[in-house]
Amino acid sequence: MADRLKGKVAIVTGAASGIGRATAELFAAEGARVMCADIQADAVRETARRAGHGAIASTVDVLQPQDIERMVAETIAAFGRLDVLYANAGIAEATNAIDMTLEQWNRMIGINLTSVWLSAKYALPHMIAGGGGSIINQSSTAGLIGIPDIPHYSAAKTGVVGLTRQIAAHYGPQNIRCNAICPSSIPTPLMAGVWETRAKNAKDTSSFEAQQAVVAARHPLRRLGVLADCANLALFLASDESSWISGVAMPLDGGLTAT
Ligand SMILES: NC(=O)c1ccc[n+]([C@@H]2O[C@H](COP(=O)([O-])OP(=O)(O)OC[C@H]3O[C@@H](n4cnc5c(N)ncnc54)[C@H](O)[C@@H]3O)[C@@H](O)[C@H]2O)c1
Repeated sequence: MADRLKGKVAIVTGAASGIGRATAELFAAEGARVMCADIQADAVRETARRAGHGAIASTVDVLQPQDIERMVAETIAAFGRLDVLYANAGIAEATNAIDMTLEQWNRMIGINLTSVWLSAKYALPHMIAGGGGSIINQSSTAGLIGIPDIPHYSAAKTGVVGLTRQIAAHYGPQNIRCNAICPSSIPTPLMAGVWETRAKNAKDTSSFEAQQAVVAARHPLRRLGVLADCANLALFLASDESSWISGVAMPLDGGLTAT
């Protein structure tokens, strides 16, 4: 174990899978005490078990404000303070602005944007009381550039960037930093679902590996991201090494949005 987060308490939402799971484990390995939160009860308990270092788990549906409030209360009850919030839980689906239903839109905005605000709403008072903190919001390259088939996802992730800047501007004087991570494609269950729909719509029968290779080739660095790429950036933003970085929407994209 190293100690880049020694003494800090962190919440990671969406910790049952993918980026959230990898980050919760890395935070714990770097000395943080971690609250792992997710709607998948068994899987998030398993994340906390694997993370070790006293990590705890909570079953949280981020669509429910009372669940988010309870998540923060349980963290304070267990660890007595809160230094880092990684608002990472999310969903994705490929659709278009004509066929998309209001229900799809509202669900996407609720999980990918409203929950980011609610997490900050309940976390901020404890961070301020403790002398400051780092909020890391999960956006996407879809929060930076237009991507054709994800209208509600793009709107939510762009909203996350705006909210991130607002929180940074408003709460900076109380030593709160707030930054957004904007990843391009990292293979996870969420990404696989989007690719499956895209392949179906394009009548593309090539293998999943072949589809991944096509996406990878669009990136200047000619590869997809891996979980560690995102977990390492989250670790940097959570740690005091980034103590003068706030209000940033950081591309994590192998150079994609630079082109
Ligand atoms: N994988 C990528 O390429 C990529 C790119 C850009 C942004 N992102 C973002 O990264 C974040 C993590 O995604 P991932 O790729 O690791 O996917 P993932 O599917 O592996 O993980 C998402 C997690 O969020 C949880 N979740 C979904 N709805 C929830 C709810 N209502 N309440 C609580 N938890 C809920 C899921 O249970 C899951 O554990 C998401 O916000 C996603 O939009 C991912």
